[in-house]
Amino acid sequence: MMTTEQKFFIENNYIIIENLISEETQKLMYEYCKTQALVSNWKYTHMDFSGYDGDWDGKWEEDNAAFKSKQTFGKYGDMLTDSLMFLCHRYVEEITKLTLYPTYTFWRLYEKNDSMGSHRDRPGCEISVTLNAGCDYSNLDDKNYCWPIYLRSEKHPDGLPILLKPGAALIYKGIKNDHWRDHLKGLNQAQTFLHYSTNEKELLDGRPIPGVPKLQLKYGKRIPIIDA
Ligand SMILES: [Fe+2]
Repeated sequence: MMTTEQKFFIENNYIIIENLISEETQKLMYEYCKTQALVSNWKYTHMDFSGYDGDWDGKWEEDNAAFKSKQTFGKYGDMLTDSLMFLCHRYVEEITKLTLYPTYTFWRLYEKNDSMGSHRDRPGCEISVTLNAGCDYSNLDDKNYCWPIYLRSEKHPDGLPILLKPGAALIYKGIKNDHWRDHLKGLNQAQTFLHYSTNEKELLDGRPIPGVPKLQLKYGKRIPIIDA
């Protein structure tokens, strides 16, 4: 027999989980993301370029464009969020009724006026979880403001606005449904993405272990993996 959540996900291809993580964990993640962005910014500013490594320290990017000095900060395969991907693995399998392989994670610290262009994800993101890890809207008078993520589907061709409070997550099919965000009105928001695939070949996104960038190590030399 299916639970209400399983039934909803199968019928709608998405589901909102109001408390994927506890308030304590959410607060810790939010502080961690802000500190990591601060540390990376400090490191980038104060160390010579050879001391900064965007693959390990995070990057400021806009729609995967080349490294820029001031865009949205994001980090791939972070140890904390990769750990969360494993912690949530069985739960996401239960909700989706699928056998899933954890692939990779990403998190971004969006700042005021940042946005996310409409896109679909790559195969390693067959089932995605986007989690609000914390936000600061203290600049706004509207205390009910919540930054929507829009999800396009047959039922909602113009995009269904989905509101996620801190600690809440959306489980969705990132490769099937376009998703995007308009400009953020608040001061900042840390958003975490956990990705899973039904294809075992996507396990860890080709990485040897979790918590590392997508790079191959060969004789001490790093060779970037080229996506097929
Ligand atoms: Fe995405």
